[in-house]
Amino acid sequence: MSLRIKDAPIGVFDSGVGGLTVVKSLRNRLPNERVIYLGDTARLPYGTRSPATVERYAVQNANFLEAMNIKLLVIACNTASAIAHGRLRELQPSLPTLGVIQPGAKQAVRTSRSGRIGVIGTEATVSSGAYAKAISGFNPAAEVISQACPLFVSLAEEGWTEHEAATRLIAERYLEPFQGGRVDTLVLGCTHYPILREVISEVVGPDVALIDSGDALAEEVAILLAESGQLRSPDVPGEDQFFVTDAAQRFRRVAELFLGSPLERFDTVEL
Ligand code: DGL
Repeated sequence: MSLRIKDAPIGVFDSGVGGLTVVKSLRNRLPNERVIYLGDTARLPYGTRSPATVERYAVQNANFLEAMNIKLLVIACNTASAIAHGRLRELQPSLPTLGVIQPGAKQAVRTSRSGRIGVIGTEATVSSGAYAKAISGFNPAAEVISQACPLFVSLAEEGWTEHEAATRLIAERYLEPFQGGRVDTLVLGCTHYPILREVISEVVGPDVALIDSGDALAEEVAILLAESGQLRSPDVPGEDQFFVTDAAQRFRRVAELFLGSPLERFDTVEL
């Protein structure tokens, strides 16, 4: 029996484990929805790769999820959202596809009073300029300061959060451009950065609002599904499903920290 489209799952992909922070945001905002998650653990990180490679991987991930009768595709990975969102929409115009860049940028513009907004992300996200472009689309007068923070990905996966002196030192170095009142809002433009939220907040200070692009995306998904009459009925049974492309043991170990609850079942697939 095929699911009615409104009861179909949401497809979510990421370069690996980081997108589980976005699944957590979706679960919090939309507890009745079901998710099929693909973490491309065989090929992560995406953040240090060329745009052509990220786009190729993103298309393969999207093809895998599209074949599973999803009602909506979420690009949880900021790097893939920055580089491949347009291409994925072109390839599948009938499948609603949301990335994290536009929702994060919109939320930042709504939050900032000064119009001075910081963005942190992977090298590929920052050099794509996607956040800066999206922010100026919502507020042409906004000033954007961007900084790549590649080591944050490894620190988050190690679980080295606010209590590690090394993390604090690295955060102070990366976040120097945002100190001294230079921005009033900072976009956490990478799936891993919510794990380091406390240390980031301590370093930039309490006057800088932090924007979680996963939370902003979950809000957009909620609005889209409500407006299109596609919210899932609460009484339909079903479970989230998780797939990875490699390194299942590591995924299991790190997943709990990112998802906020243990991940019992997942399968390994080849794309
Ligand atoms: N998921 C990536 C992002 O949000 C971070 C990890 C990676 O570089 O693959 O940009």
